[in-house]
Amino acid sequence: RSGTSLCGTMMLVTGGAGYIGSHTCVELLEAGYDIIVLDNLSNASRESLNRVEEITGKKLIFIHGDIRNQTLLDDVFSTYPIETVIHFAGFKAVAESVLKPLEYYNNNVYGSNTLFAAMEKAGVKKIVFSSSATVYGQQETMPISETASLSHTSPYGHTKLLIEEMLQYQHQAALRLDSSWNIALLRYFNPIGAHQSGYIGEDPKDIPNNLMPYITQVSAKKRPYLRVYKGYETTDGTGIRDYIHVVDLARGHVKAIEKLQDSSGVHTWNLGVGRGYSVYEVLNAFQEYNHVNIPVQEEGRREGDVDICYADVSKAEAELGWKARYGLEEMVRHAWVWQQKYPDGYA
Ligand code: NAD
Ligand code: WQD
Repeated sequence: RSGTSLCGTMMLVTGGAGYIGSHTCVELLEAGYDIIVLDNLSNASRESLNRVEEITGKKLIFIHGDIRNQTLLDDVFSTYPIETVIHFAGFKAVAESVLKPLEYYNNNVYGSNTLFAAMEKAGVKKIVFSSSATVYGQQETMPISETASLSHTSPYGHTKLLIEEMLQYQHQAALRLDSSWNIALLRYFNPIGAHQSGYIGEDPKDIPNNLMPYITQVSAKKRPYLRVYKGYETTDGTGIRDYIHVVDLARGHVKAIEKLQDSSGVHTWNLGVGRGYSVYEVLNAFQEYNHVNIPVQEEGRREGDVDICYADVSKAEAELGWKARYGLEEMVRHAWVWQQKYPDGYA
């Protein structure tokens, strides 16, 4: 554990060593919060947090542990004056969840349940939860607003929905006792990019499933070509997604925390840019702005992919005063700076 001032408001960040968590830790420290990161490092490295400290010039407390460890959680909540929990910890790979559903329900649902129970015991009632656009399933109407119907097409998506519902019921139960929880369900669209410093970024342990880390690895000649999945109902036949710079996403968490301080109840906010790009638009931007060439091979549709998915972000704009600042150019530039600076990630 490294020392911290303990003078500001304390946040517990589960999964804070991961991709989105580490970028959010930077924004939280820069906003003046004291933070404790609880991470079992199953998909991350301690080094990401060293870099967070380097970027911000501030210290955080790191606890190497698991959100399913009830005794550890009780100890953390009784040791530190935690006000708010930002809950990133969990597994996130859709295809893997189909192969290992029980592991996903255990880590994501049982893990969240253990965390929420420890919060209740300790009287901590403010939480920001990492949900996902995957809870919208396949939608006919774009952009997708927070009131759209919810469904799931994978165990991963199901775990996100179950956790959202668990928090909804927990708030309702608190109301019966004349109490309340302050809950933010943040539904992320497609986070890409890296911190502008190039010190932290996405560091996939295995072969990447997602588009951007795959592109950067092809660009770095670690993989021979990019498979471009085609056959979707779009102008160029590739899928359209709402890509959002991970630093903008991280800033959204700081705004949500501010809002939660005096807003009880369950709040749902889409975090995206509010427009979609096709695979070829992303790929062409990457090649143009970074002056590189990415070989591609076209293939048929990838199982489970929706054709188009982008967010209505007006609710987050109106209620949080938040809006993405970075465009596609910065997303592709920063992703490439990170890959070039640290070709082997945090290894
Ligand atoms: P990530 O894998 O980089 O981060 C998750 C972190 O949680 C890792 O550091 C991992 O070591 C840790 N962790 C996992 N299980 C744990 C446990 N039981 N106890 C303690 N720590 C544990 O993933 P990410 O991309 O940063 O995603 C963060 C959150 O956002 C996840 O909940 C994910 O489902 C959600 N999300 C991600 C995306 C995306 O495209 N990256 C999109 C929507 C939602
Ligand atoms: C984007 C586009 C592919 C790889 C996933 C999860 C979602 C959320 C974000 C967690 C699609 C195409 C991809 C490749 C390609 N995660 N593609 N070649 O599928 O929108 O969302 O990550 O919550 O739940 O499902 O993101 O980056 O995998 O794909 O052509 O090698 O790129 O068809 O159109 P996706 P992605």
